[in-house]
Amino acid sequence: MTTRVRGGKYVVQGGVTLRGAVNISGAKNHALAAMCAALLTDEDVILTNVPYISDVDSLGELLVSLGVVVDRLPGGSVRLNASRVNVFEAPTELISENRASFQVMGPLLARHGFASSAPPGGDVIGQRPIDVHLAGFEAMGATITRDGERFVSRAPQAGLTGTRVFMDYPSVSGTQNVMMAATLAHGRTTIVNAATEPEVQELAVLLNAMGARITGIGSQMLEVEGVSRLHGATGRVMPDRIETGTWAIAAVMTGGDLVLRDAPLGVLDALVHKLRATGAHVEESEGGLRVTAGGPIRAVSFQALPYPGLATDLHAPFAALLTQANGVSIIHERVFDNRMLYVSELRKMGAEIVSTGSSAIVSGPTLLHGTRVRALDVRAGAAVLLAAIVAQGTTIIDDVYHLDRGYEHLDEKLRALGVELERL
Ligand code: UD1
Repeated sequence: MTTRVRGGKYVVQGGVTLRGAVNISGAKNHALAAMCAALLTDEDVILTNVPYISDVDSLGELLVSLGVVVDRLPGGSVRLNASRVNVFEAPTELISENRASFQVMGPLLARHGFASSAPPGGDVIGQRPIDVHLAGFEAMGATITRDGERFVSRAPQAGLTGTRVFMDYPSVSGTQNVMMAATLAHGRTTIVNAATEPEVQELAVLLNAMGARITGIGSQMLEVEGVSRLHGATGRVMPDRIETGTWAIAAVMTGGDLVLRDAPLGVLDALVHKLRATGAHVEESEGGLRVTAGGPIRAVSFQALPYPGLATDLHAPFAALLTQANGVSIIHERVFDNRMLYVSELRKMGAEIVSTGSSAIVSGPTLLHGTRVRALDVRAGAAVLLAAIVAQGTTIIDDVYHLDRGYEHLDEKLRALGVELERL
């Protein structure tokens, strides 16, 4: 399955206006959760539109280490078969590569009654606890113990039992994990204060295609009627709304005009609303979204929120855009407590941003200049990349492996739009 490569650094020549069309790839966070869902059945789960990104590769390696067959098929599909799973202890070095990997716990626990894992990895964007996941498993009757840094969870002999689970926070991966566990529990599970992100909804749709009985999809109250077994299914990974947002922001920031083919139109309200507030033109076009810069960029303020609010993953790219806006913009981060890693990097390029706690104040417009910066996480990396495209001169971006985690064919897509970029 592994295609893992890349990393290194980008050398980007700035001063480019982006015009043309970009194909939006499959969504990272939907693909990762859907791959974990394959653990719930001994039949084939086939996913189409799976992006070639390193987070998919690392989760694929983790699943293989548990005994899952993971085949990359031509054309972006992946076939997963978990009929021979024989390892229930996730290897720490693979679990620590991304956050989604902890979602093997719910399915293993529900189907095999046992699962053990270290805490997951992922971006260092603040405290990323897993108490919501574990509390959900415990509510369904599991016992959780610690073995060193590992969490060991065991279901009762008779299996998990459906119950009412209140999520202290509407955690995206927590909701997905508990929902997957509940599909095979005895009786009904009600998940109250569930996350409503489109990737959670799409996972529920896939689970239902596998024979699960989930209702309330898209609401904060999910009802899961447990079934005795799930079967195989085929599902298409939804287009990535964060990649869509990143390119949309790039179009406005560079004074350009991009058609984003296959953009997930139904789930972009907050993004479209805020882009229009900056003066950009945004309309449906050619089965996607067309985003056109509309003269001087206006300063706007926003809060990064759970869905349907503006996604926290677009906080940093949007902040990069606001360095080019006329006036002062204020950003409040309401999801993670350390999304501000991008601030120091954009400041090296000439941006005027101050951050205090979970807020940032951006003054613009500022002339950005090329220098040496780092991609400190996947979205902070996107922010410096966007800044590099509008900056005067050459920018060197270190630690590009972060971008490889979430953006498919990024080099090729940028070059096709006329960006001079080299990966060293
Ligand atoms: C997922 C996405 C990530 C996105 C985030 C928010 C994946 C693989 N990653 O991450 O790209 O930025 O949703 O949309 O899908 N929390 C708790 N207790 C928990 C779990 C989370 O308090 O048990 C808190 C976290 O500290 C954080 C907030 O919930 O403040 C959001 O985290 P969560 O929704 O769990 O994000 P992830 O699922 O990790």
